[in-house]
Amino acid sequence: MAMVCLSDFEAYAKKYLPKIAWDFFAAGADDCSTRDENILAYKRIRFRPRMLRDVSMMDIRTKLLGTEISFPVGIAPTGFHQLAWPDGEKSTARAAKAMKTCYIASTYSTCTLEEISAAAPGGLRWFQLYIHRNREVSKQLVQQAEALGFQGLVLTADLPYTGKRRDDVRNGFRLPPHMKLKNLEGAFEVCKMNPSFHSLLDPSVTWNDIYWLRSLTDLPIIIKGILTKEDAELAVRHGVQGIIVSNHGGRQLDGGPATIDALVEVVEAVQGRIEVYLDGGIRKGSDILKALALGAKCVFIGRPALWGLAYKGEEGLQDVLRILQDEFRLSMALAGCASVSEIGRHLVHVSNL
Ligand code: FNR
Repeated sequence: MAMVCLSDFEAYAKKYLPKIAWDFFAAGADDCSTRDENILAYKRIRFRPRMLRDVSMMDIRTKLLGTEISFPVGIAPTGFHQLAWPDGEKSTARAAKAMKTCYIASTYSTCTLEEISAAAPGGLRWFQLYIHRNREVSKQLVQQAEALGFQGLVLTADLPYTGKRRDDVRNGFRLPPHMKLKNLEGAFEVCKMNPSFHSLLDPSVTWNDIYWLRSLTDLPIIIKGILTKEDAELAVRHGVQGIIVSNHGGRQLDGGPATIDALVEVVEAVQGRIEVYLDGGIRKGSDILKALALGAKCVFIGRPALWGLAYKGEEGLQDVLRILQDEFRLSMALAGCASVSEIGRHLVHVSNL
């Protein structure tokens, strides 16, 4: 099977993963309207490409909080990578390092943070935190991540409770007994966890907890799950270093906006004071170009990374990233941009937004 675009990896994963794992990866909340809108919204945005601009030398590198990455796509935090590939997050870390990009490791990893670090020493990694009811557990995880050389702390803000994902309910989704939430072992009796393990998360988290996190670590803090100008302003005021515009891949509140639509108001509110990133629905190079044109510094992929792992572990994930890289370079060139710094709002038809 020739793997030409990300849909090929999706088709492969759907065919070969056990149904319960495929359903968990694919799930959106309720009737999945926000999950699907994340993808549809890109199709409504049209380019204003420029011609005759010497695109013989292309520079697609960018920087994330000062650290160079090979192109503006990183790996969003997703849980349970061993459901896709036996080496789990270790493979993800290796692929991200090989492709010189950023991997955000989830609290719900099936490998420990030490294992992830050791698998790809020196790779650019951020740690994604869900704040637990037992704050001591979260504190230890944050400090461990910092000690291990993770370079950013991503606080996921959109999951006080888990969205209702119908297929997971129907399937009675739970981790197979041989897989563990390794970062939480010892803190809880995770082996005995039931499908409602998300109830371990603290739904009372507020903006004030940013100050608590600040007291724990010197790492830059990035808030994930912002969708409005009001919250973007609060994020800036609370001193975070970055925002990921995200709706959790449509897995939380169904009926919210596509992230590419929400990006516009967040970028306008932030006014360049901190970096703004986006995830959700990125499936091809031209999607990346549209997100950057509308002000994202970088985008992150969730499900496509899992499809790559399901295909061939770290090699498969590298294939996914390489395809996106090639498509992004080509889209940039065809739109008349030789370097990422030339991408701007002028590249898209604003009337469609
Ligand atoms: C997620 N996401 C997520 N987010 C997070 O902050 N911590 C996590 O542990 C997870 N886990 C997770 C599992 C699975 C299976 C999916 C699909 C998603 C959300 C993720 O970071 C990201 O926001 C979306 O996946 C982006 O959308 P796309 O790229 O999947 O369309």
